[in-house]
Amino acid sequence: MHFSPSGSLDTPFLQSHPGDAGALLAGLLDSAMDGIITVDKAQRIVLYNRAAEKLFGWPRDQVLGQSLDRLMPARFQRGHAEHIRRFATTGVTSRRMGDGTVIYGLRASGEEFPMDASISQLDTADGKLYTVILRDVTERVRAQEARSAFAAAVNAVREEEKTRVARELHDELAQSLTALKMDTMWLRDQAGGAPLAAHAKLTEMLAMLDHTIAATRRIAADLRPLLLDDLGLVPAIEWLVHTFQQRTAVACALSADEELALHEPYATAVFRIVQEALANVAKHACASEVKVSIERVPGGVALAVRDNGRGFVADAPRQPHSLGLMGLRERAALLKGHVVIDSEPGRGTCVKVDIPLAEGGGAS
Ligand SMILES: Nc1ncnc2c1ncn2[C@@H]1O[C@H](COP(=O)(O)OP(=O)(O)O)[C@@H](O)[C@H]1O
Ligand SMILES: [Mg+2]
Repeated sequence: MHFSPSGSLDTPFLQSHPGDAGALLAGLLDSAMDGIITVDKAQRIVLYNRAAEKLFGWPRDQVLGQSLDRLMPARFQRGHAEHIRRFATTGVTSRRMGDGTVIYGLRASGEEFPMDASISQLDTADGKLYTVILRDVTERVRAQEARSAFAAAVNAVREEEKTRVARELHDELAQSLTALKMDTMWLRDQAGGAPLAAHAKLTEMLAMLDHTIAATRRIAADLRPLLLDDLGLVPAIEWLVHTFQQRTAVACALSADEELALHEPYATAVFRIVQEALANVAKHACASEVKVSIERVPGGVALAVRDNGRGFVADAPRQPHSLGLMGLRERAALLKGHVVIDSEPGRGTCVKVDIPLAEGGGAS
């Protein structure tokens, strides 16, 4: 079928609905905001509306009868043909294209653009026709990229800030408190002839100082394990597992490649994800055993925190105050990672995260 010069359509449908209906449909197609392109079973373009002209930059008369390949970047052409062949066999009449990935169109200028597209198929007397309805989503994709770049930057600033505060607490405050404790001990030892009450007070002060020093160290470590910066990821995770066991008395096994060294922001992300997953085990799981594993896999790093606790319905709607798993997903998403939460009431929970490493992201 072709658009005749007058703009009306020469389609099987319109042949049986001549006159007004043809003009009506042609008008409708051309007033649509979305690009509409129909191809026949040989992938030749038989219908191409005005919005498609604008999107692709090819005038109608230069694409009608041409292969759809003209509108696609070369690297997608083969996959697309295959896709259409499979779509034809599904019997589904219409669906979204791209399976959740961004697909690209090619303009006459050679420029590529991301688009949202859906495809439908129709059997006609002349064979199958496929119609694609598509929309340029350059702006949306750009805005998304800007948002995630911003989120990543905010995250990096937060980590830096936490590191600074943790260092101050650890190096300044804890050191001064320790010095104060030494002086207090000295005072107690010198105050041999002092009243009993003064002695008791000094002993009390020492206990209080011990407590305060421990709290300061703990707060600093929770803010940011300085081990992560000083010794690297594996020792920091070992420390995390050790404190988890101390706090919860739940057995926790760690399997991590000793050599595993990751650059920032990967090391912090892995650490924080394991930290949140373990915090959830402590808070919700009632588990008796936990396994943490972190391994280098081709192209990335894979981690898993598996417990044998009570489990939960992982796809139940999130409670408004529950931010932990959302933060975990967010952290992974910032690095293009993928999270799977495998859980079922009574069957324990496994939080699995795969993070691809950018070039130079992993030192080993
Ligand atoms: N390991 C786990 N075992 C059992 N339940 C869990 C586990 N991890 C998460 N959950 C459930 O998922 C919910 C959401 O977790 P999260 O987003 O971290 O929020 P929060 O820990 O603040 O409740 C928890 O309230 C809990 O019901
Ligand atoms: Mg939580």
